[in-house]
Parts: sequence; C-alpha cells; structure tokens
Amino acid sequence: MWRSGHRSFLLFLTSVSHNMDCEQQTVLSGDLISDKCQLRFVNFEIHDNHRSHETVGLSSHHLVVRRGWAFRLTLLFHQRVPWSLYSFDLEVQLGDLAERFPVHFSSKCLNPLRWSARVLPENVHTQSVSVHVCSPVISAVASYHLLLHMRSRRHAFSYDLGTFVLLCNPWCKEDPVWMPLEVQLQEYIHNDYGLVFVGTQQSVRQRPWAFGQMEPGVLEACLQLLQKSPQHQSDRQNDYLRRADPVYLSRVICAMVNCNDDLGVLAGKWQGSYTDGVCPTEWTGSAEILHKWVSSNCSPVRYGQCWVFACVLCTVLRVLGIPARVVTVFNAAHDVNANLIIEEFYSNKGEKFNLSKDSIWNFHVWVECWMRREDLGSEFNGWQVVDPTPQEKSEGIYCCGPCPVSAVQNRVLRCAFDASFILASVDADVVRLIVRDGLVVGRSVDRQCVGQLIYTKSIGSNKPQNLTHTYKTNNRSGENTYHNRSTPHYKQSSPVHSAPMRSSPAASGKISEGSVSRLEVSLDVEKTPGVGDSICLCVTVSNGSGHGRLLTEHLSAQLKHYNRSPHESFWQSRRQFQIQPGQVLTLHHRIPSSRFKSLMAHDDIVNAAVVVKDVKNKERVMAVQEFNLCSHQITIEVEGGDSIQMKKEHTVHVSYTNHCNTLLTGAVLSLEGYGLLEGKHETRLTLLQPGEVIESSVSIMASSAGTKVLQGTFSHSHSLGVTARSFHTISVHS
Ligand SMILES: *[C@@H]1O[C@H](CO)[C@@H](O)[C@H](O)[C@H]1NC(C)=O
Ligand SMILES: *[C@@H]1O[C@H](CO)[C@@H](O)[C@H](O)[C@H]1NC(C)=O
Ligand SMILES: *[C@@H]1O[C@H](CO)[C@@H](O)[C@H](O)[C@H]1NC(C)=O
Ligand SMILES: *[C@@H]1O[C@H](CO)[C@@H](O)[C@H](O)[C@H]1NC(C)=O
Ligand SMILES: *[C@@H]1O[C@H](CO)[C@@H](O)[C@H](O)[C@H]1NC(C)=O
Repeated sequence: MWRSGHRSFLLFLTSVSHNMDCEQQTVLSGDLISDKCQLRFVNFEIHDNHRSHETVGLSSHHLVVRRGWAFRLTLLFHQRVPWSLYSFDLEVQLGDLAERFPVHFSSKCLNPLRWSARVLPENVHTQSVSVHVCSPVISAVASYHLLLHMRSRRHAFSYDLGTFVLLCNPWCKEDPVWMPLEVQLQEYIHNDYGLVFVGTQQSVRQRPWAFGQMEPGVLEACLQLLQKSPQHQSDRQNDYLRRADPVYLSRVICAMVNCNDDLGVLAGKWQGSYTDGVCPTEWTGSAEILHKWVSSNCSPVRYGQCWVFACVLCTVLRVLGIPARVVTVFNAAHDVNANLIIEEFYSNKGEKFNLSKDSIWNFHVWVECWMRREDLGSEFNGWQVVDPTPQEKSEGIYCCGPCPVSAVQNRVLRCAFDASFILASVDADVVRLIVRDGLVVGRSVDRQCVGQLIYTKSIGSNKPQNLTHTYKTNNRSGENTYHNRSTPHYKQSSPVHSAPMRSSPAASGKISEGSVSRLEVSLDVEKTPGVGDSICLCVTVSNGSGHGRLLTEHLSAQLKHYNRSPHESFWQSRRQFQIQPGQVLTLHHRIPSSRFKSLMAHDDIVNAAVVVKDVKNKERVMAVQEFNLCSHQITIEVEGGDSIQMKKEHTVHVSYTNHCNTLLTGAVLSLEGYGLLEGKHETRLTLLQPGEVIESSVSIMASSAGTKVLQGTFSHSHSLGVTARSFHTISVHS
C-alpha cells in the first residue's frame, strides 16, 4: 500500500500559507503554470472538520482529524475547470512513506480500509470542488503531508496542499481504541481537568490537575514526543508503520514521559532539594511541563514523582485519542525481586528499620488506557495499566505496560507487558519481621495490606470510583495454585520463632503470629487527628491461651514520606501489664502535638507500630498503622457563586484560621489558578494569634471556558513546606 515517495516532482511549486476567515488555506502562486486551471487555494475547513471529528480546541492552525472518518477540503481554482478532462489524485506522505489514491467523482462509498477520496456530484461547481478524504481506520498517528496531482492530456501539475494531523478515533467502532459510551468519551478524552487521589488509605486526599489538552502547543508537544522517541530516531519508517497500533503507541509514549533512556519529558526525584527545578508537589498541570520540555529543546523537566508522570502520560494519551485515566493504588508494593513478598524490619520496640530494598508506597499513581488487545485475545480487551514512573526496566527500558487489568485480576502472568510486576504492586504479601540483635524474634504475614484500595476519579464528578475489584478477586482461596510465593530469605541466623505463616485478620493493621497461643494485637487511630491535635492510639490485645500472662507493650511512632522509609521514632512508650485468660484489653495512648508538630510537613505520614511480648516465653506479636494528619481547610469562596463568566472580573475571598493553640509567625496564605489569575497571589502576616484569621480578596478573570481550579496554600516560618492545601473548582461559561 505504501511506497517510497519522491519530493522531486514538486519542483515547480511554490506555496504560501495564508489565513482567511480562520481557515487553513494554502494560496498557490502559479507563475510557472500556464494552464488556466491552476489551483488558487485549498480550504481545510478546519472549523467544520474539527466539529465533526471531536477535535475542537486541539489546534488553531493545524487540521486535526480522526482516522477512519472522512474529512472535507475545498479546492478553489482560478478559472472554471473542465472536470471531465482531468484526473485527480491525492497523495499522503509520512516521512519516506507515501500513498497515492484517485479522487472519484461519484457517490461511491469510501473504503474504510484504505485511503480514499470522492467528490459528490452536488459539490462540483464551476471553479471549486469539495473533496471528502477518508483515512484507513488503522493508520499511523502522525502529522501527514497532503499533495494533489492533476493531469490532463497536455498538462500535469502537483500541489503541496499542506499538513494535517491524524489521531486515534475512539468514536469509531473499527478502531481498537473504540469506547462505546459518550459519557466515557467526554471524561476520558475531552475532560481537561482531573483529580488525583493521594495520602493514605485511612485518610485519602485529592489533588487537582489540569490535563490541558486544549492549551496551545500541547498537541504539538505530544507529536514531538513521538518524533523524539528512540524508536523513531533509529528507524523512522518502521516507527511510522507501527504507530497505527495503540499497544505500541502507548508503550512508546510511556517510556518517553520519563527521561531515563531517552529524550523524555520528566526527571524524577524523591528526596533532597528541588531548588534547581520545581518541587513535584508544586505542579498543577501538564501543559506547563510539556511547554518547558519543548522550549528547552527536549531536556528533561525537573522534577516529577509518580502522579506527575502519570498525569502527563494521561494528557498525551487523551490528546492522541486513546481514552485514559489516572489511577491511585494505596499501599502499592514495590517488589524489587518480584517474589510477591515485601519484607519489613522492625526493632523489638516497634521502630521500623531502613533495611529492605522492597518497599510499600502509601500511594502510587499510574494510568489506565483503553484498547482492544488484538495481540493477546479478546479477554484482555479494556483497561490497560501503563506506568511511566521509572521503577524497574521492562525489556531493557524504563517503561511498564500496557498490561491488561483483566490479566492482573486473573493472574495471567505471561501476559505482555509486565503483568508480574504490576500484580506484585497490588497483591504482594507483607512479611513483618521483628529483629533483635540480628535475630528474627517474631514474624507475621499480612496478606490484606497491599493494594486494598484502588481509586480513580468518577465520570462527571469529583468522587472516587473504587476499582479494587477490577484488579483483585475477593475469592483468594485458590491463591497458591496460580503463583508460587517463594519463601523469603533472611540474612539473620536461625529465627527464634519459625512458626508457619498464617493469614491475618481482615483489618490492615492487624497481624499476628504464634504457634501455640492465640495472642493477638491490633492498633487503631481513634479519629483522624488534625494538625495541632494530639494523636490518640488504641491498642487491643486479646486472649492469653487459657492462662494469665505477663506482657510488655512497646509502641513507637515515626514520620515518613509516602514512598520512603521512616525517620527515627519521635515518640516511644513501654509498659507492662497482665492479661487474664480470654480477656480483651484496650490500652490508650496519647501523643501530644508538641512531640511532632515542628518535625512534620503537610504530606508527611505517621507510621505507628506496637510490639507485644510475652515476658515468659518471649513470643512477640505486632501491629502497624500509617496515617496522615488532616490539615485544617483554607476557605475559598467566589463572590456570586462557582459558575462564572469568561473574560469578566470576579472576586474571590480566601481565608485560613489558626486552629493551633500557639502563635504562628511569618504566615503566608497564597492563591493560584491556571487560566484565572497570573502567577501566585500572596498575603503575609508576621504574627497569627491562635484563633486569628488571615484573609484576602483576590480578583480573577477566566481566559477560557471549562472547569478551572483555584488552589490555596498556607505556610508559616516554622513549617517544613506547606501546612495546609485546599482547592476549589469553578465552572467558566462563555
Ligand atoms: C473498595 O472495593 C473493595 C473491593 O470491592 C471493597 O472491599 C472495599 O471495601 C471498597 N472500599 C471502599 C472505601 O469503597
Ligand atoms: C472460590 O474459589 C474456589 C476454588 O477456586 C471455588 O470452589 C469457590 O466456589 C469460590 N467461591 C466463591 C464465593 O466464588
Ligand atoms: C512452584 O515452585 C515449585 C518448586 O520451585 C515448582 O516445582 C512448581 O512447578 C511451581 N508451581 C507453579 C504453579 O509454578
Ligand atoms: C535509608 O537508607 C538509605 C541507604 O542506606 C539512605 O540513602 C536513606 O536516606 C535512608 N532513609 C532514611 C529515611 O533514613
Ligand atoms: C479468645 O478466648 C475466647 C474464650 O477463651 C474464645 O472463645 C475466642 O475464640 C478467643 N479468641 C481468639 C481470637 O483467640
């Protein structure tokens, strides 16, 4: 179908771009052409084509159309054309590939499997024709060149008509990315505003994100990302041919979102200073990141973490026409040796050590994209995981997926790509080891903790949609038949307790291990504490095996970042108590806020662990909880309501109340909102008394219609970073 193209026959052409009535038109000056039938201009009918191809807003100067659907262009000639004396061919070019096809003057149907073009009889006028051009539904996603060849018995002319961009077509049933419901398409292709769920499973937070598909320059950046990929750089022709396949496309894009191995968009950083770039928590949208990448000639933009990588990937997929959504896995395992076991080491006082290479992130964000898997079979159609955060190499590059969610659910580990890594992220067992003097003195297995909650934004609302059941079946009775969980190796000498592993009770924090007795412990947070409140913990110990026992309880609390090992304990307690046969004991603990307030940043997480030991037989059991403190809200109110008019000034009131019972110094309240106000608006107060309010009125004006987000942050001179962060969505109408 494709043949190598030659540009040499365009020798006698000169073409000038010219905008008339906002349409893309190429005006052709034909000094060298003597024939009266020369082409004067071509109208790409951008306005109409963009409406009928669901591409409105993606570009103001390129024609952007979807594959498998016809688009229309109008050719206007200098003089009346004796149509019957001419034959017309169109040619599309993609690098060195080209295909030439005739324009039929008939109502014959267009062939959806090949490039084809027709002119309907009613569209033939004396000086102009409207041509309908249809691309095959399996076409490369790229920017194409379009040429016109006219031939009569005496003359032959060729015209370079210009370029157009071809995208995937999830509205078209024959396209492998076809999505049946319009509400889904509105959310997963068109919606340029989204939410990412972060925090911990116990205290889920939302972070707004502007995907920015319609921002100027974003489409061009996405196309450039394809052109800069190693696949394209090393073999253009092969890359163009394979770009018709969404499996290939999504894998190439996924690798290009991180800068490892290639000229990709984002550099990741998870600790240390971010001052030579932007701190990952400061980004609010994809457009700024893509613009930075393009304007710096494809040097990596600093810095990303998982949700930043995922949101940029989601933008690129939506722009290119592959339905996509951002998904958060709480307690996501990072299983370096892929044995489906995460080991955590604790001291006998409940302090977590920084030892294991494996880790559990409180949350991890990846992307799901929607497609048929013609390479695997129809049972794998639907949502596919793609994870752009550079973690482990896949086939030699930092890239993960696309992997069918159904393959994860059904444990089809041979499935392309990376099914076993993704399965481990949502389904590893946690083995917690209590270590004393280099010996393992207690061990417990938690089968529930990892991947217990998987969220994405619901269609048309800010509520979370629970996707957990799509990754995990509730019925785990047959689990050991579908994969082997290898036994972990310990560097320590022979463990004191080599009791067989046993499944824990339902709640994530409850774990227990014991060979003979049935000593059990659980740890709960009494209510999600706010910043400035004490943390109240409750330890429940049950059942000393039919006789009374003397027990010691060690409790420890540490601070950690969502994907990191914790710092040293900021609080520890120890006590001894007696438990009667069959008794259930509840022990309360209160950690005053003065113990952690000055150590804690807004997004920090508290890791609390309790170890209970039988003084006589040295049996140890433990339980763990991780949680965020909830910060007090910043109030953001738009005068006259949240539905505002474009290009009109509106006033926003923003305020924060000091709920701590201490004086805060150097208070800063700031407000920002992409497309609503320029830069950051800041209000400062040197002293903020307990109960006092810092507030401000800010004037905003929306530059375009759609959903916009105002984001407020509060910090003070003794806080590590931001202490409170809130957002507020506004709908802008034209
Ligand atoms: C999410 O779904 C899982 C599995 O269906 C269920 O066990 C869990 O309770 C749900 N959680 C929430 C918060 O809805
Ligand atoms: C769980 O799986 C087992 C074995 O695979 C099967 O026998 C049983 O019926 C299943 N139970 C449910 C509730 O699906
Ligand atoms: C599990 O591992 C054992 C020993 O390595 C092997 O013999 C067996 O075939 C494995 N089972 C599965 C289901 O892979
Ligand atoms: C954990 O250990 C690694 C290497 O041993 C070190 O780079 C890292 O900073 C430690 N993390 C914490 C939170 O102490
Ligand atoms: C606790 O002890 C009571 C009475 O001895 C018994 O009924 C119950 O099953 C025990 N619970 C556990 C968790 O061992």
